[in-house]
Amino acid sequence: MSRENFSEWSKQDLIDEVKKLKKRKKYGIVWEDKPEKVVTECKKKIPILKEDINRKIEKNKDGPVNILIEGDNYHALTVLNYTHKEKIDVIYIDPPYNTGAKTWKYNNDYVDGEDAFRHSKWLSFMEKRLKLSKNLLKNDGIICLTIDENEQAQLKLLCDEIFGEYNYLGTICIRNNPSGRTRKSEISLQHEYAIFYSKNKNIKGISPFYVSPDNKTHNYKQDENGKWYEKRNLRRGRKKEERPKRYFPIFVNPKSLQISITNKPQLIEILPVNDSGHQLTWDREKEKIEELYRKGEIWAEKIKKGYQIFFKFRPNFELGESPKSLWIDPKYSSREHGIRILKDLFGESPFEYPKSLYAVIDCITSMNCNKEITVLDFFAGSGTTAHAVLELNERDEGKRRFIICTNNENKICEEICYPRVKKVIEGYKNLKGEKIEGLKSNLSYYKTDFVETENLDEAPDEDKINLTYKAGEMIAIREDTLEEKEKNDWWQIFESKQKLIAIYFQEDKSKLQSLVEKLGNFDKEVVLYIFSWGKNEYANEFTEYENITVKDIPEPLIEVYKEVAKL
Ligand SMILES: C[S@@+](CC[C@H](N)C(=O)[O-])C[C@H]1O[C@@H](n2cnc3c(N)ncnc32)[C@H](O)[C@@H]1O
Repeated sequence: MSRENFSEWSKQDLIDEVKKLKKRKKYGIVWEDKPEKVVTECKKKIPILKEDINRKIEKNKDGPVNILIEGDNYHALTVLNYTHKEKIDVIYIDPPYNTGAKTWKYNNDYVDGEDAFRHSKWLSFMEKRLKLSKNLLKNDGIICLTIDENEQAQLKLLCDEIFGEYNYLGTICIRNNPSGRTRKSEISLQHEYAIFYSKNKNIKGISPFYVSPDNKTHNYKQDENGKWYEKRNLRRGRKKEERPKRYFPIFVNPKSLQISITNKPQLIEILPVNDSGHQLTWDREKEKIEELYRKGEIWAEKIKKGYQIFFKFRPNFELGESPKSLWIDPKYSSREHGIRILKDLFGESPFEYPKSLYAVIDCITSMNCNKEITVLDFFAGSGTTAHAVLELNERDEGKRRFIICTNNENKICEEICYPRVKKVIEGYKNLKGEKIEGLKSNLSYYKTDFVETENLDEAPDEDKINLTYKAGEMIAIREDTLEEKEKNDWWQIFESKQKLIAIYFQEDKSKLQSLVEKLGNFDKEVVLYIFSWGKNEYANEFTEYENITVKDIPEPLIEVYKEVAKL
C-alpha cells in the first residue's frame, strides 16, 4: 500500500492510523474551547458601527482623524476586517491579565481563581481576537502584547501558533511596579512582559530605539569633552577560531600602564583569554589599538592579579539601538506615570490599571518609528495608547493616528477613555492648577451596533437592504472619508479633502442616474457604492465619468463576515 495514496487504504489501515495519531504527543498549546456568547450571536446579529456625532472632536483641521470604538472588541475587530484589512502598522494591546481576581468577565460572568476552565476561557477569548487582528496588520506590521506571569506562558505559545514561532521578535521585561506586589508565600512581583511578533519577520523586525544617555539600564558616562561612552572590556565573547586576526597580544607596562602592540623589555603580555582559559578575541583590529590608545579611548587597569584592557564604547544615539530585554527605568512605573497622569486629568484616578504613558510610547516606537503609522489598541481601557500617540506626534510633528476600542465596563469608555482623550486634545488644568496645553487632534466616536438577520450565511434580501442602509459609516471609515454631507432614503454622501464617497441604498435604481450625474460634476475622486445582489454588477457602468469608481455593497461586506465566522 502506498502511504500517499489514501484512497487505497482499508478501513483497518484508517483505524490503525487514527490510533497512531491519537497516541502522538502534540507540541504546542491545547485547551478546551469555550464558546463565547458575543461570537455565537454574530450568526444572527451583524455588527456595524454607528457614530456618536455629539462626541466628535475637531481640533486640527488638516490632521488625521482618530477613531474610538465603544463596544466588545470581537465586534469591533469584525468590522475592522472590512474597513482596515492590512492597513494597520502596529498593534499594542494590554488584555485582561486573568489574575483570578474577578476583574475579567467571560460570557458576562467574572472569572475567578477557582474556575477550572480559567485558562481555557482566556485562551478561547484571546485566540479569536488575535486571529482577527492579524488580518488587520500590514505585511510589515508588528504586534506588542503585554501580560504578566498569570498568562505569559500560555500567550507565548498561542502567539507562536497564530503569528508563527519564526516571527517572534522577543520579550521585554518591564519593571512596572518598582515597590513590588506582595503575594502570600510567593515572590513579590515587580514586572510584566511585552511580547513582540512581526507579521513577517523577513520584511520587518524591531526598530532601533532612541536611548537617552542617562538611561538607567546603561552605564553611560561623559568624558571631559562631554561625549558619552560606556566602559567595556576590549576582550569579546567571539572565539579565536571565528576571527583569528583579532587574537594577538597587547603589551602593558606594569608601572605606567602604557599600552603597546610591540613587545619591549619589561612589558607584560596580555591575550584575550578569559578566566576559564578560553581563547577569545579583541574588539578592535591590531592596527587600531595604538591609535585609539593615543586618543585615550583604550587603557589598561590592574585588576586583582592580572591586567585588563578597556575601551570607550561610543553609542550612536542618533541611530538608536535595539531595545534591550530589560526596562527598569522609573518612567515605566504604572503608579508614577499611569495612575498619576489620570489623577492629574481627573483629580483622582478613576482606574486602577493604566499603563505608564512612557512604557506605551517606547513599545510603539520599538515597533515602528515612522511618523505616519496607524496604531491599533483593542483593549484600550483608560486610553493610554491614544495619549501616547498624541504625545509622540507632539514630540516630532508626526501624523500618526490611532484606532482604539474598549468595552464600556464600569463606564470606562464614556467616563474615562473618551474624557481622557478629549482633555489631552483640548487641554486641561492639572492637580496643581496649571494649564496644560492641548495636543491638537481629531476624534470620531463610534459605538458597535447590529443589524438583525435570520442567518448570516443566507441573509434574506430585506436584511441585506437594511444592512446597506446602515453600513454608511463603516464604508466612510474604510475610505477614510468621514464627513457626512447628505443622507436621504436613496443615498448617503461623505466627503474628505481628497474624495467623495456615495452609497446608493435602493434596489430600485430609478434615481441612480441623477446621483451619478451629480457626482460626475465634482472635481474630486468619487467612490460610488451601489446596492447589488452580486459582485461586480456595475463594474462596467458609468465609465464616461473618469472621476467615478464603482463598488458593490453589501455582498463583499457579508463575505468578510462569513470569513471571520470561520476563524
Ligand atoms: C488591562 S486593561 C487595559 C488598560 C490600558 N492599557 C490602560 O492603560 O488604561 C484592559 C481593558 O480591556 C477592556 N476589555 C476587556 N474585555 C474587552 C472586550 N471584550 N472588548 C473590549 N474591551 C475589553 C476592559 O474594560 C479593560 O479596561
